[in-house]
Amino acid sequence: MPPSSPAPEATLPPCDTTRRTVLQGGLGATLSALLASSSAYSAPRKAASRLGFKGVPVSRADTVVVPEGYIATVIAPWGEPVGIAGSPLPAWRPDASNSAEEQALQMGMHHDGMQFYPLADSPSNAARGLLVMNHEYTDEGLLHPDGMLPWTAEKVRKSQASHGISVIEVALHEGRWEVVRPSPYARRITATTPFDVTGPAAGHPLLRTAADPAGRTVLGTLANCGSGRTPWGTYLSGEENFQYYFSGGPQRDAHQRRWSMPAKSWTQWDAHDERFDATRHPNEFNRFGWIVEVDPQDPCGTPAKRTALGRGSHEGAWVATTRDGRAVVYTGEDARFECIYKFVSRDAIRPGGAGPNRSLLDHGTLYVARFDADGRGHWLPLVHGQGPLTPDNGFADPGEVLVKTRQASELLGATPMDRPEWFAIDPVRGEVFCSLTSNGDRGQLGKPGVDAANPRAHNVMGGVIRWREDGDFDARSFRWNHLVMAGDPTNARAEAQGRVRGDAFGCPDGLVIDPRGVLWIQTDAPTSTAPEYREFAGLGNNQMLACDPATGEVRRFLTGPVGCEVTGATFTPDGRTMFVNIQHPGEPVAGKWRSTWPDGEGRPRSATVVVRRRDGGVVGS
Ligand code: FEO
Ligand code: CA
Ligand code: CA
Repeated sequence: MPPSSPAPEATLPPCDTTRRTVLQGGLGATLSALLASSSAYSAPRKAASRLGFKGVPVSRADTVVVPEGYIATVIAPWGEPVGIAGSPLPAWRPDASNSAEEQALQMGMHHDGMQFYPLADSPSNAARGLLVMNHEYTDEGLLHPDGMLPWTAEKVRKSQASHGISVIEVALHEGRWEVVRPSPYARRITATTPFDVTGPAAGHPLLRTAADPAGRTVLGTLANCGSGRTPWGTYLSGEENFQYYFSGGPQRDAHQRRWSMPAKSWTQWDAHDERFDATRHPNEFNRFGWIVEVDPQDPCGTPAKRTALGRGSHEGAWVATTRDGRAVVYTGEDARFECIYKFVSRDAIRPGGAGPNRSLLDHGTLYVARFDADGRGHWLPLVHGQGPLTPDNGFADPGEVLVKTRQASELLGATPMDRPEWFAIDPVRGEVFCSLTSNGDRGQLGKPGVDAANPRAHNVMGGVIRWREDGDFDARSFRWNHLVMAGDPTNARAEAQGRVRGDAFGCPDGLVIDPRGVLWIQTDAPTSTAPEYREFAGLGNNQMLACDPATGEVRRFLTGPVGCEVTGATFTPDGRTMFVNIQHPGEPVAGKWRSTWPDGEGRPRSATVVVRRRDGGVVGS
């Protein structure tokens, strides 16, 4: 599609001032609800194990398994209408023949990072709310009746409409959660929705394109992965594997190669949308890889790309609050030998929800982490003009430091990590957790060797690292250790290099702390049964486990269907409902899907699972 073509957002639902006005009552109330939610952390901790459920065994069944006394139900699979008020509610067609226009009104494909936002008039803030989730990528073979061949402009539009973010309203009726349709809050943001670019890199020459000479408006977000919820009620997500959507050709420059831009894109969107042809529009590439912020209470609002948080293959972003009320945002790059970051806002969070905090994440200082062998760590400022971050080293100004965060971190001597994915923050104990999902290249020929924070060569199983800042969350130094090194304890190599205290798992990815301080770990281990993946054979399907950080005990809570990853878990403030996403069930091996979940026939679909105790009690207790 040429840059001057009408953007497909014209197919998105109407946004009028009536709709915006209806929603204004919910803003302040949501902040109160979130604060009420976080205050649950101040409850005294029990000395005994906080894992109050009977663990489930490893599974290879094509279904979701939860412990005795629990029930799991499916809502909002790919292709169901999100329920946008005033727009059609196109039903999903099992042969995948929905048009691009219909897809832009339906749940996207491959649900990932998800957050629950209670609504103001909900009893106990836990019976009605918004679920906001992203859709990481598309399987084009599933998305179109005839797969990718022939590849057409309509298929590109449908693929782009399947990406992005969904906002849906959900409500609890007689013990069962349902999607509310229509809803004035329901919304789709896709790979063509306009975003404001904000912060120090907005308008930078590296972000200017023929279609956007000002460098301040980008169409769409894509490859979104993890997610965080801010104390002011917004949703944050990273643009993770954005580079693979661009075709750079054989003459890619050093910057494009440092960021792993391929010669030919994975998606082949560039065949019909020339902004993804980096040989013609090289700066479009620099307009992705940012943390995006969405206010779910304002379905007409323009979402933003927050450049002050740095550019990277970020999974998501997670917010802590300093004692004087400033935001500290943790991020990582899920890429082999990339780093962990934190941003400290200049200003304090203001009361009143998203509106008064619209520019909070545009002013502050970005740091990158160095993990030292003595168990201490340091935050190195990514500030233009300081240390090596000068024009002589290729950084003309503060904007260029942010666009080239990777290059800047390398010069500063930050620690290259084993793929930092999600973070979770325990504000009471002041602990930050980060999943290091795996890095098979660690210690291999021509690659960086092991270090204290990344101690396993050929680290295919990953682990969870944690730290406490020296003082408040804005500290310049911290103390760290490993909460758990993952693996199957019966595997000889895992046994030799540290083992799980409890149930086996591999490749931790999603993390969330529940209102009781229990850490929930969701896994994304390879699902192939090919011989080269035999180390994973004992782990079965991907899963979710609860971990008590006080004891290190890990217990398996849920197993997913065949070929999926488990991700995006989030809780209602009362802890009695958990929502969790099942992504890419039946991930193809040799071109064949291996699952019919959740419908039991036809195409497998990513979907949200609602987990509750049959007696209505707190999940996991
Ligand atoms: Fe999208 Fe890092 O998983
Ligand atoms: Ca992930
Ligand atoms: Ca992953």
